[in-house]
Amino acid sequence: MSKFTHATIEKNSILLLVLTLVVVSIGGLVEIVPTFLIKTTIEDVDGVRPYSPLELAGRDIYVREGCYACHSQMIRALRSEVERYGHYSLAAESKYDHPFQWGSKRTGPDLARVGGKYSDAWHQVHMADPRAVVPESVMPGYPFLAETPLAQHDIENSLKTLAFLGTPYSEEMIAEALSDVFVQQSPDEDYDPMLDRYPGAIVSNFDGDPSTVSELDAMIAYLQMLGTLVDFSAVERSTLVQ
Ligand code: HEC
Repeated sequence: MSKFTHATIEKNSILLLVLTLVVVSIGGLVEIVPTFLIKTTIEDVDGVRPYSPLELAGRDIYVREGCYACHSQMIRALRSEVERYGHYSLAAESKYDHPFQWGSKRTGPDLARVGGKYSDAWHQVHMADPRAVVPESVMPGYPFLAETPLAQHDIENSLKTLAFLGTPYSEEMIAEALSDVFVQQSPDEDYDPMLDRYPGAIVSNFDGDPSTVSELDAMIAYLQMLGTLVDFSAVERSTLVQ
């Protein structure tokens, strides 16, 4: 019987193919299997919490209107980005995003830390007609958001679905979802229980019209919280920007 040598493998194409697949799959398994075995690849960061129901509704409108076609929500760890937009984005900051809004297209600026940059009043005008505040803007206006009452029938189900996907929405958060939507845009109501559920949520009459909850209320609530959950003042400046 001839000896099994390297030449045997090289001369038998099927054997070569099978052994090649075996060797390549070892590399694949070493890379893929650990990602299924560890609980999470995302480090926990203080302050990150699930979206409040009103913010979540705003996020859904953001996705519906395709704002991601012009805006990214991820600040890269590059000096130019960090100087313009602030601390680079952490994985934990988008861990409750289903789907994430990182994006790569920037016709407009990155929005990952736009929260608190402008007043609600600025957003009201900018969303209705961007050129009223930024004359050279190419962003379309969304004046209908202010006139459209927020559809609230599916908010509870949105929270339930996200809870199913692993977002830690409790039974209580789901049960109170509709009232939390209302309370977050009514500074005159007792909003403390809502703040206990969603620490750091901004309570404001976002669209300037207290009579109804509009899509604009939800959109501004969402924009104003973007990037505000993690307190970076305590974090040492990254080595990248020293
Ligand atoms: C066609 C591309 C385009 C689309 C679509 C678009 N934007 Fe913009 N956006 C821009 C541009 C360009 C700017 C910069 C000029 C300005 O402020 O209007 C901008 C600016 C902004 C700003 C101010 C950012 C800052 O830091 O100054 C916000 C907030 C914003 N957009 C929100 C939205 C939202 C919400 C949507 C979806 C409802 C949206 N944009 C859709 C192009 C777009």
